[in-house]
Amino acid sequence: MSLKSDAQHWGSVAKFFHWISVLLIIGVGTVGLIMANLPKKPSLFPVYNMHKSFGLTMLALAVLRLAWRAFDPHPREPAGMPRWQVLGARAGHALLYVLMFAMPLSGWLFDSAAALRPLYWFNLIPIPSLTGGPDTDLKARAHIVHEALFFLLVAVAAGHAAMAVVHQYIQRDGILARMLPNWRR
Ligand code: HEM
Ligand code: HEM
Repeated sequence: MSLKSDAQHWGSVAKFFHWISVLLIIGVGTVGLIMANLPKKPSLFPVYNMHKSFGLTMLALAVLRLAWRAFDPHPREPAGMPRWQVLGARAGHALLYVLMFAMPLSGWLFDSAAALRPLYWFNLIPIPSLTGGPDTDLKARAHIVHEALFFLLVAVAAGHAAMAVVHQYIQRDGILARMLPNWRR
């Protein structure tokens, strides 16, 4: 088991970043949808705090992941994969990276414009406001963007996961297997 990736395999650091991000997005997104549809009351405050803290963790992980990626070689696409599929997969991955930043950033902007300060990351680290105070218009727009981006992310990630399954079980090129933890193979 190697920490770094090579021309054929993903290393364990890249796999860790991939699957922890998937779990975070599913968990934070599900909690977000539920809490946004419940009547607002003070007892929900800790749930909002957890949503924001785990969401900001996603942002920190996305930064670390891109930094690691800059020095980590990427496995090559399987030989014989059509050019359009290679370009499609790369464009999809790039879009997923953009969304992993945009999702928490839009939430942070929304929270800043709502100005329900102070916000602490897991009750430990103070998180600065991006707006410096309340802004009702921006709050409404950031909320719409935050929600819309989530549905876009779900759609792109579903297509991405479906392609991974098609590659693994129809084209049988081992694409999914090489992203799974080693003990799964
Ligand atoms: C992985 C990152 C994140 C995901 C996937 C995510 C997803 C969601 C989703 C799906 C909703 C429900 C939207 C709706 O139906 O109105 C939501 C609501 C919300 N999000 Fe996030 N979010 C993330 C990060 C953040 C961050 C970092 C913050 C703030 C620092 C934040 C603040 C909020 C707030 C305040 C709401 C509640 C909206 C309401 O009560 O109407 N989110 N989020
Ligand atoms: C929120 C959900 C997901 C996100 C944001 C996401 C994001 C990404 C990104 C950005 C990459 C490219 C990695 C890089 O080049 O650094 C990638 C690769 C990959 N993902 Fe996901 N992914 C998600 C869900 C899934 C699921 C559910 C599966 C499996 C069913 C999956 C299977 C794969 C595989 C197999 C690769 C490697 C492709 C290759 O070796 O060329 N992903 N993912």
